[in-house]
Amino acid sequence: MEEKNSFMIFSAPIQGLTDPVWRHFHHQVYGGGSVAAYHTPFMRVERGEVRRRDVRDLKSEFNQGLTLVPQIIFRDIKEFRMLCDEIRIAGYSVADMNMGCPFPPQVHHGRGAGILGNIELLREVSAVITAEYGDLSFSAKMRLGVECPDEWRDALAVLNTIPLRHVTVHPRTARQQYSGDLFMDEFAMVLGASAHPVIYNGDIVRPEQIDEVMSAYPGVAGVMIGRGLFSRPSIVEEWRNGVEWDLDKKMEAFVRLHNSIYSHYCDTLCGDVQILGKMKPFWEYMAPNVDRKAYKDIKKASSLRKYDDAVGRCMRINH
Ligand SMILES: Cc1cc2nc3c(=O)[nH]c(=O)nc-3n(C[C@H](O)[C@H](O)[C@H](O)COP(=O)(O)O)c2cc1C
Repeated sequence: MEEKNSFMIFSAPIQGLTDPVWRHFHHQVYGGGSVAAYHTPFMRVERGEVRRRDVRDLKSEFNQGLTLVPQIIFRDIKEFRMLCDEIRIAGYSVADMNMGCPFPPQVHHGRGAGILGNIELLREVSAVITAEYGDLSFSAKMRLGVECPDEWRDALAVLNTIPLRHVTVHPRTARQQYSGDLFMDEFAMVLGASAHPVIYNGDIVRPEQIDEVMSAYPGVAGVMIGRGLFSRPSIVEEWRNGVEWDLDKKMEAFVRLHNSIYSHYCDTLCGDVQILGKMKPFWEYMAPNVDRKAYKDIKKASSLRKYDDAVGRCMRINH
């Protein structure tokens, strides 16, 4: 039990999904303390300034009451400084460095996984953190490589020189995007080579998989869960308490989560199209658990009336 209490479970950043509204209501519905921290989708510099929407999200009132780690993506030290300054101004003392984003436009510009090969920049980041950002506590989230799963070595050697809280590892290459083999042998090598606590990230969708990671890799300090928090939002709470929820309990909580988010958008956005644009992605990873026809109807709903009807038929989860 002691071991379980100190094992960290993080919510992973997912662009377009883990926004302040989802984080707030997930935290409210699924037991406040079960997720150690939520991560923002990466904040970025666009046309010479930090994206306004990222700054707005950072300052959202929905961030109150939960532990939030702003994440940044950058391709040079100027972008790194601009993003860290914004985080500091917003009153945060933590930041996560994205070294794993696989989207080709980011990677080709040297951001995300593209940073893994830029050892010069990582050395610069190490020096700048020590000289200028001693008040911020950093972590990193990385992949194993861009093309091959053994490209992480030089980057990790530099990360070992930076005082990081932990390094999260998604054991895939950028080329694989988000599916395909997980290179667990390489993951074990990262674990052995890292000077920092290592957090495992990838394909955790059931509570027992967290136990499996703990027993297969006793040195792992925690796990980070992305899509699994959308297909099974109660996963962490179920694992912490060691009891799987029955369908009724899952359903009741999921309806509360959905309805809280939905009524928030109905109150604050204007028009069916805008509201549907926010709600449809929420269902993306729930697809395998709900009625197929109703799910398809949600995806093609062109009005709130059609959406409500499809949602009503969808609220039958089969884990
Ligand atoms: C649509 C999408 C957007 C994502 N956005 C981010 C992001 O902004 N920052 C980040 O570090 N990872 C991002 N990720 C990666 C997730 O954080 C996570 O590493 C990945 O989904 C694997 O974990 P999972 O299998 O638990 O989902 C994104 C993933 C997806 C599918």
